[in-house]
Amino acid sequence: MWFKVLEIHRSTTFAMPHGKVLTSSRLFLLLLLLLASSARGRSYPRFSRNDTEFQHLALHPDPSVGTVYLGAVDRLFQLAGADGLRLQLEEATGPVSDSKDCLPPVTEANCPHARRTSNHNKLLLVDPAALELITCGSIHQGTCQKRSLASIATVRFSTERPVDTQYVAANDPAVSTVGLVVALRGGERTVMYVGRGYTASHPPISTRHLSAEPVFSYEETAKLAVAGRLSEYDHHFVMAFARRAYAYFLFYRRDIKSATREYRTFAARVCLDDASYYSYVEVPLVGRGGGGGGGREGEDLLGVFSGPDASALCVFPLDELDRRIDATRDLCYTQGGRAEGGAEVAYIEYEVKSSCANLPVVRTRGRKGNGEMGVLKELLHNNQSRIHSCCPASSGCYIMST
Ligand SMILES: *[C@@H]1O[C@H](CO)[C@@H](O)[C@H](O)[C@H]1NC(C)=O
Ligand SMILES: *[C@@H]1O[C@H](CO)[C@@H](O)[C@H](O)[C@H]1NC(C)=O
Repeated sequence: MWFKVLEIHRSTTFAMPHGKVLTSSRLFLLLLLLLASSARGRSYPRFSRNDTEFQHLALHPDPSVGTVYLGAVDRLFQLAGADGLRLQLEEATGPVSDSKDCLPPVTEANCPHARRTSNHNKLLLVDPAALELITCGSIHQGTCQKRSLASIATVRFSTERPVDTQYVAANDPAVSTVGLVVALRGGERTVMYVGRGYTASHPPISTRHLSAEPVFSYEETAKLAVAGRLSEYDHHFVMAFARRAYAYFLFYRRDIKSATREYRTFAARVCLDDASYYSYVEVPLVGRGGGGGGGREGEDLLGVFSGPDASALCVFPLDELDRRIDATRDLCYTQGGRAEGGAEVAYIEYEVKSSCANLPVVRTRGRKGNGEMGVLKELLHNNQSRIHSCCPASSGCYIMST
């Protein structure tokens, strides 16, 4: 039985290695501790508020410090995790005078129809190198601040007069935004990957500066450029995470190539240091009930899939997902996107004016360890011009498999 995906609940979707407890499951546990009010939970430290809604949780990168950060509607909280979740600081972030149609800074003169608007926390991320908390709200076109991890009251940077490439989060409480802070080139540079659902013509996936000017902008970094029909795709992001040399995004969107144009769930992967998203590949994820298996080694992605009549918790081994993505990429670059029988199984998506190519297979097609970059990276290094025949530099290369 196959399930159509309507929604994946964020807190129940995370990567976890077999037999090991890791940050994400600890985070999940913490969420339970914070949110559960069962009789058993009473012996654990608790923090609750009845005047707001908690939306995101982040932890100090040093577990011995133990600070817990909460992003909520119109509030940010800093709690001493090692001291019974004692409230250390509380910051008001809203409501403010705002309108979705106005560009910040919002004033009486340039936005007469602005109203008192609640600020929903859309991103709450830790930059461990700079010891900063990144906060982005739904107000003022989803612009962001950097705050000190030692004190969230200390705002180190705020986009006051932003240009549109500095609009980060969705400016709508109901539209999802996910993010990921990544140190590149051995920590020399820090960037933020952002996936945001459709609100206007903003790229669904982008890489943004954190350690260079203009901060939070995707100018001169990479973005997933959707040539047209962005609203028809209607991306809904569920999660972003990094593993080895890659960033991954999980989302559902309309499959506008199919006759029914229904929403499908996808996993996308891009090389962390890819400044043009040439390495960007999407593959569909389908949750199916009644599976078995087990006994493998490695990390798994857990996802909850739900449809009108049923739901399932599905397990996707990440090594298998990588193999699938690699196979899709190889098919598009070396076999014109066609399987052995001639059927089209991989293609270029998002109206990018390009098609899959028939390039010679470059040896060194490693499956493991240092072979991670595989064929595409080899081709990029060996013959830039050939890759351009498949991926126009201006538009990037978005490969999809059916
Ligand atoms: C909310 O919490 C405050 C402080 O703990 C309390 O005084 C108030 O009665 C609570 N309000 C509701 C509606 O529960
Ligand atoms: C790239 O490949 C093409 C076609 O095989 C060849 O003509 C060209 O010289 C190559 N360019 C480089 C920089 O190797």
